[in-house]
Amino acid sequence: MHRGLTKAIIPVAGLGTRFLPATKAIPKEMLTVVDKPLIQYIVQEAAEAGITDIIFVTHSSKNAIENHFDSHYELESKLIESAKHDRIDALKSITPKGVNFISVRQPEALGLGHAILCASHIVAPDEPFAVLLPDVLMHHPKKGCLAQMSNYYRQVHTSVIALEQVPDDQVHKYGIAGVLDADLRITELVEKPKPEEAPSNLSVVGRYIFTPRLMELLKNTKPGVAGEIQLTDAMAALLNEEVMFGYEFSGGKSYDCGDKQGFLRANIEYALRDKVLGADFRKYLASLDLS
Ligand code: UTP
Repeated sequence: MHRGLTKAIIPVAGLGTRFLPATKAIPKEMLTVVDKPLIQYIVQEAAEAGITDIIFVTHSSKNAIENHFDSHYELESKLIESAKHDRIDALKSITPKGVNFISVRQPEALGLGHAILCASHIVAPDEPFAVLLPDVLMHHPKKGCLAQMSNYYRQVHTSVIALEQVPDDQVHKYGIAGVLDADLRITELVEKPKPEEAPSNLSVVGRYIFTPRLMELLKNTKPGVAGEIQLTDAMAALLNEEVMFGYEFSGGKSYDCGDKQGFLRANIEYALRDKVLGADFRKYLASLDLS
């Protein structure tokens, strides 16, 4: 009997140095795309996939994230008093129904693998779990990336990793997966390969569903450069023991919001898609003349 997928780990303890100075006092995950912080989109995606327990791996400088998902009675009662119903709805929609939050601390940013390990005591030894990187935004008009992956997981009952095609001249920026056949069975994982050495142009994009074995392997993963424990090393060890499938997210688009270009593109494209703002914003962009 397989245990269902109900837990997701969202690591938010990184330093966000690529976004300085914006991220000196504000967590990167709280930067807004149109009118919501990045982390709210990620929590929504997890909830839509049936996740009920969200584990933030966080740091003392990142309290704003927990506060965002907590109640704010004073604000709520002010809005109720003044009958500002749309704003009350905006406030109430922050936390999806039926979702619990659990916070654990990563005292030092010792890598993504280490961050996931910090949640190991919350995930049962026989329990699969998802990992969502909060700086990758996955837009989908209908069914989110993790929901698509969890459907697939229910068929294959083994680890499922989101993959995305990137141009050949970009493979050196990403973790790249070598795959077998059309079912995307993963054969190898290579960190930032040279284009001529890349096994494919399928990059790992920040959504993972892992079998419990990954957590055990992480415990035995030695720190690499800068003392960091790399998730990729534990995934490579898992590949030696279990089948792992790639999953190409379909019908949507991803944005790497940990990078300024990706973040700007997300803001423009989400604004253009927005039901209230989109039409006027499109006109504004068409009329722009900065000469
Ligand atoms: P990144 O490497 O993209 O984020 O990690 P970062 O370290 O915050 O950003 P830069 O590179 O300095 O700009 C991906 C995710 O993993 C988390 C980060 O918070 C981010 O959401 N992370 C990373 C941790 O929680 N702990 C770590 O030790 C490293």
